[in-house]
Amino acid sequence: MKIRILVGAQWGDEGKGKIVDLLSADTDYVVRYQGGANAGHTIKFDDQEIVLHLIPSGMFNGDAKCVIGNGVVIDPIALVEEIEEVEEIGVTLKDRLFISSSAHVILPYHKVLDNVKEKNRGKDAIGTTGRGIGPAYVSKVARLGIRMGDLANREKLKKNIQQNVDDINKALEHVYNEPKIDAQKILDDLTPAIDRISPYICNTTELLHNAVDKKASILLEGAQGSLLDVDHGTYPYVTSSSPTAGGACAGSGIPPLAITNALGITKAYSTRVGNGPYPTELFDEAGEKLRKNGAEFGATTGRPRRCGWLDLVALKYAVRLNGLNELALTKLDVLDDFETIKVCTHYEHNGAKTDVFPLDTGELEHVKPVYKEFEGWNSSSRNIDSFDDLPKKALEYIRFIEEYIGVPFTMVSTGPKRNETIIR
Ligand code: GDP
Ligand code: IMO
Ligand code: MG
Repeated sequence: MKIRILVGAQWGDEGKGKIVDLLSADTDYVVRYQGGANAGHTIKFDDQEIVLHLIPSGMFNGDAKCVIGNGVVIDPIALVEEIEEVEEIGVTLKDRLFISSSAHVILPYHKVLDNVKEKNRGKDAIGTTGRGIGPAYVSKVARLGIRMGDLANREKLKKNIQQNVDDINKALEHVYNEPKIDAQKILDDLTPAIDRISPYICNTTELLHNAVDKKASILLEGAQGSLLDVDHGTYPYVTSSSPTAGGACAGSGIPPLAITNALGITKAYSTRVGNGPYPTELFDEAGEKLRKNGAEFGATTGRPRRCGWLDLVALKYAVRLNGLNELALTKLDVLDDFETIKVCTHYEHNGAKTDVFPLDTGELEHVKPVYKEFEGWNSSSRNIDSFDDLPKKALEYIRFIEEYIGVPFTMVSTGPKRNETIIR
């Protein structure tokens, strides 16, 4: 049985939610392993559209067990809202949703700190989603965090929250000149959410070890994208976790040697939300058209996404970082009415040409993309069921990418709905 890691191969929003939903029909367990409600994974089927932030995207197609792994940071109040949305669609979560007792809790002070620190950075702001992600991982690594399993002991929880709040209030008052936080209010707001989610909190590490022993099929759902990885991304313009395949084991407890596949998701062009270097970003009509055709507005914050051509230097880097052995190409249809389509094959820097993705963010800011140009296919790729029936010029474009990166596209997505996918 497959134990497959699915990662975003760009800067996020590649269509991971859509592909996880599609694959979950043949999957026993779908596991989120990092990030938090900064993610927005859109799923469309029949007349339904739902954006999931914390719950794995495996709830709606088949009966996979959905696990929020230890590596995720969870805002209990956001989770309750999401549980209610999912239940409204008619999905029963009993025996379907499992939340790791080791996952860390995002508390209101993490969100306050996220926003205060962003404000203080001024023009150097990261452009975070404001969901408290960075500060929550700081608490975790500083060993001050509260874990989902700690929510049951109210006395201890109260003491821990009070200690953290006392500490943070000193910074808010004396360093940031911001209003102080009230620990009791946090507890009062949190209590109904704890009651609502506590039935789902358990030892998911044991659950997944048993699943591995039973040779169950498991899909590890990455959030964000490889280029937002805290180690391998465009630091400091990254998220605070490891979305790359390497993070999947740490964030779930599944051992590396159990993994059989690494599937990357890439758009047929590129987007980025938030700040940071983006060599192929477009500021012209073509960029506007990508945004309009692709409805490129953040699924979590609603911000317009920055849009540009596909960057093969960056994609090849993601392929190698994650050891991808399969790729899904999404949003091919967005390019259907372009006269010409460009793809970046190299960067130029200080007069030299390179196909190596620079790890220095300052350098990445200054590289100039070198493009290969393709004629557009000017016809609809939607509702095509077979790979070979795609427009000839679209096939040329796809085959060029495959050859460059050395990995085949096993899926091509030509629309947001589950059935708008060509399986090769
Ligand atoms: P994720 O974060 O990687 O799950 O991606 P998002 O849900 O944030 O953004 C992807 C957007 O593209 C969503 O609105 C999807 O419904 C949509 N989408 C996914 N695949 C396709 C596709 O092949 N074509 C089009 N037109 N839209 C798609
Ligand atoms: P999905 O899972 C796109 C970006 C933010 C910001 C940076 C840090 O839907 O692909 P954070 O709030 O994580 O501290 O913000 O990361 N970012 C995303 N961009 N898709 C996402 O998730 C993202 N999650 C975070 O815009 O630049
Ligand atoms: Mg998204």
